[in-house]
Amino acid sequence: MTIVVRNLVKRYVTFERRGFLRRVRRVVEALRGVSFEVRKGEVFGLLGPNGAGKTTTVKIITTLLLPDDGRAWVEGYDVVEEPRRVREVVGAMLSVERGFFWKLTGRENLLYFGMLRGLSGRELRKRVDELLELVGLKQMGAADKLFEEYSLGMRARLALARALLHDPSVLVLDEPTLGLDPASARDVRKLLRDLAREGKTILLTTHNMFEAEIVCDRVAIIDRGRIVAVGTVPELKRKVVGKTSITIVSTPLGNAKSLVERSLSSLTLGLSIEQSDNDARIRFVVDPENEERALSTAIELLAKLGARVRSVRVEEPTLEDVFILLTKRGEGT
Ligand SMILES: Nc1ncnc2c1ncn2[C@@H]1O[C@H](COP(=O)(O)OP(=O)(O)OP(=O)(O)O)[C@@H](O)[C@H]1O
Ligand SMILES: [Mg+2]
Repeated sequence: MTIVVRNLVKRYVTFERRGFLRRVRRVVEALRGVSFEVRKGEVFGLLGPNGAGKTTTVKIITTLLLPDDGRAWVEGYDVVEEPRRVREVVGAMLSVERGFFWKLTGRENLLYFGMLRGLSGRELRKRVDELLELVGLKQMGAADKLFEEYSLGMRARLALARALLHDPSVLVLDEPTLGLDPASARDVRKLLRDLAREGKTILLTTHNMFEAEIVCDRVAIIDRGRIVAVGTVPELKRKVVGKTSITIVSTPLGNAKSLVERSLSSLTLGLSIEQSDNDARIRFVVDPENEERALSTAIELLAKLGARVRSVRVEEPTLEDVFILLTKRGEGT
């Protein structure tokens, strides 16, 4: 096992303003006993909704944050007791710590961070050149452009190159494709697969089911600070075999969202409603025998609420439905 995580617990204490002078102390339980293992050479995905605890977990593994309880090891090194060793074997790309110099070029930035890693002279210049090529910045003609002129996709590539400077055996990436256009996201995913093929162990976080499905050998689903399932994508999909997935797109529900949630949740095995300014996407998983009843109830309810149905799709469940099933809300915590 390259990464071992055992019962990690993390609480954040925040102070909320109530009224003019009163501040109320609030404890957020970000991790409530997270455990998983990542094998050598695999791409392992930590998949979860906003606020699930993904970033907190990877910050602890990369020694940026101390846990309140539990332990974690990378290549056998304890993240709390041997943080320097851990940093030698891990390359990290966390969305929060970009920290590049805006007035330097991509190449100059890498030369600087390479020096911090103890590289110098020809060896450093060669390494930087190879990495600029590996992540595609050289081919894009961006290696010698100022960082401030970089697009988001170029910045992500540079961050990945920086994570690889000291040739770490383990890569830890927090939402590596967040905000990238489809072509750049595809390039980054391919690069991660290539690196894994060369023997690097990769832990990445994502809330993108499609991404987890195509890049990860195994996935852990995390929800509200707990791991709710671990397995390969086919293994996880087995949890929804024989069930039906229904997606209804309608005009926005506004405040009626929670009413729709309450009315449908008893008829379904799992339900998710996402709203934007333009529409609402209601997705639920049902046993085939409940399909008609759930569908007609939903459509009648929407009509009663004055929402127009734009489309209805009935299909075999995907990883997204496993996710909906396992992260079912309203069960209390
Ligand atoms: N510095 C902090 N202070 C207080 N609460 C925090 C802090 N950082 C995170 N939290 C809370 O801890 C919980 C887990 O947050 P975390 O950032 O780990 O989730 P995440 O899975 O990375 O979410 P996202 O998909 O939005 O990035 C959330 O409830 C979040 O609000
Ligand atoms: Mg996060």
